[in-house]
Amino acid sequence: AAGTQRVSFKINGEPTQLDVTPNTVLLDAIRHNLGMPGTKKGCDHGQCGACNVHVNGTVINSCLSLAVMHDGDEITTVEGLGDADNLGALQRAFLEHDGYQCGYCTAGQMMTACYILADKRIGTSDRDVRDAMSGNICRCGAYKNIVAAIQDARGKVSG
Ligand code: FES
Ligand code: FES
Repeated sequence: AAGTQRVSFKINGEPTQLDVTPNTVLLDAIRHNLGMPGTKKGCDHGQCGACNVHVNGTVINSCLSLAVMHDGDEITTVEGLGDADNLGALQRAFLEHDGYQCGYCTAGQMMTACYILADKRIGTSDRDVRDAMSGNICRCGAYKNIVAAIQDARGKVSG
């Protein structure tokens, strides 16, 4: 369509093509163009982590990144961690440890957590986990349980 640009990437393993306006941020492309509501818009300014997704193995704030910049990329959203019938280890740990209250921050928390679990340089103390998760704000203050969930998942997630 006029005024749009085509972008091709893989999202949760699925090759995907989208026509987006050049100013569409990745977060809106995921939520609106692709109809995947798991990734949340919190601050819309790179300050809360609710919109975090993985791109080529690293974590980014999808609210700050233009969709058209992601041609050829491999993107993973919270939907890629598992679903209701087949929860991933991290999702189970968040459930078991009450790692959420309203749940608004949870997808972003899990995307960052999943990344830090894979990084063996990051320690496992409460302090280490809190530091590594400091870009993810929880307005409900569920931090204690979030940290417990991540520490528990550490033994169960490979990578
Ligand atoms: Fe992207 Fe808050 S919505 S960091
Ligand atoms: Fe409500 Fe974190 S559970 S913002």
